[in-house]
Amino acid sequence: MNKTKDIDEKVSYRPEYHIAPVKGWMNDPNGLVFFKGYYHVFFQYYPHKPEWGPMHWGHKRSKDLIHWEELPVALAPGNVEDEDGVFSGSAIVKDEKLWLVYTGHHYYDKKDKNKFWQNQNLAYSEYGISFRKYEYNPIISGPPMDSTHHFRDPKIWRHDDKFYIVLGNQTQNLNGRALRYSSDDMFHWRLDGTLAQSRCTKIEGNMWECPDFFAINNKFILLCSPMGIENQEHKFKNLFQTGYFVGKYNYKNNVFRDSSDFLELDSGHDFYAAQTMLAPDGRRILFAWASMWESEFKEQREGWAGMMCLPRNLIEKNNHLYMQPISEMNNLRTKLLNRGKLVSGTILSRNLSAAEVSFTIKKSLSFTIILNDNRQHRILTLHYNNEKNVFTLSHVDHKDDDRYVKINSSDYLKLDFFIDKSSVEIFIQNGEAVFTERYYASPLGISILANHKINGEFVTYALGM
Ligand code: FRU
Repeated sequence: MNKTKDIDEKVSYRPEYHIAPVKGWMNDPNGLVFFKGYYHVFFQYYPHKPEWGPMHWGHKRSKDLIHWEELPVALAPGNVEDEDGVFSGSAIVKDEKLWLVYTGHHYYDKKDKNKFWQNQNLAYSEYGISFRKYEYNPIISGPPMDSTHHFRDPKIWRHDDKFYIVLGNQTQNLNGRALRYSSDDMFHWRLDGTLAQSRCTKIEGNMWECPDFFAINNKFILLCSPMGIENQEHKFKNLFQTGYFVGKYNYKNNVFRDSSDFLELDSGHDFYAAQTMLAPDGRRILFAWASMWESEFKEQREGWAGMMCLPRNLIEKNNHLYMQPISEMNNLRTKLLNRGKLVSGTILSRNLSAAEVSFTIKKSLSFTIILNDNRQHRILTLHYNNEKNVFTLSHVDHKDDDRYVKINSSDYLKLDFFIDKSSVEIFIQNGEAVFTERYYASPLGISILANHKINGEFVTYALGM
């Protein structure tokens, strides 16, 4: 066995500071909530194999959003109301108890995975560790007449002493939509109607998964993960998208109006099914699955698959959502790498496989940043075109499938890379744009090079780890 191969085999893709399953499969974040001193993150989980299977809810909690404690599986399928899967949903605190609302998944015939029906259910817990399913489940037994069987992913919240749910749905003429339900007691629900619906399938999708609805700065945001949007030249390049509409909203008549176009939230290859929560200090914090359906999960060889992106603080400016790494990330910093004019970096873990690297670059320059592994093999490049204000990201595992984002013009550019064992998140201009990427290479000894031309000559700044 040669030395290089030897290194490869020892590399573990397990993240140091991101949420990932100890074993088994993970997809959507579910039930994000702060309860009795802990942030809770639940997630779509199949414990028995690192691949999608009958869905459970996995569970972790944390006091600081960085160090996570593994807890027992919160929900497993198998009751009459959720026979074939406990699908995505959300959480709420009521009467000192933690309540989960989730979709029950059912096949008509277990051999045909395309024929299913879905309902909505509750579970509760006193301490937030073990959960009991509500005895009068389901709380919403099926979709309205004008819809298909796609009827899932309830997001619950409270407003003026009433409870609300937005639910992902598909109309019979194949448009994605979000339905609103309301309740006075959280147990008896009525359908209020459509909160928003796809205006054109090609650009807004045919099924909206994982809707979330909230206000920031008096603007209302409908976050969702549509399926069926068609690729455009520089937009909507992933298999499915996660993004948002910004608009105005009237609770009384359930009208979401003056809504923006559907705007993609993250420009990377690996980002889906985002959900938010309100932190006790008022921040709107978002998690998403840092992966994409049908992509290759090389960590499966280690018995696990899928991970979350870093928790991000959502900020609204001029009808645009910024995603910023939460300030708690600063507590992970252990050692300053170097502080040049251009580049500074911080090691985020003792064994050098996790780092935060920041660049501040004069906007008048076009430049390329290259992320290499320890053998100087390219993992990804990020090119900035200063005339067009466009970033292009090329990834070794996604040949001829670059990702793009255009930013507002400004004098200086700030880039922050958060590198973990098999993920990189690049925050541009304090979260105006973000690329979330998985990668599979030896991260030991990553080097970052930034090239740009000064007086006709290429100047390279390098940072080695
Ligand atoms: C989104 C999703 C949800 C569903 C869950 C199943 O990724 O398809 O709509 O509830 O995953 O695991």
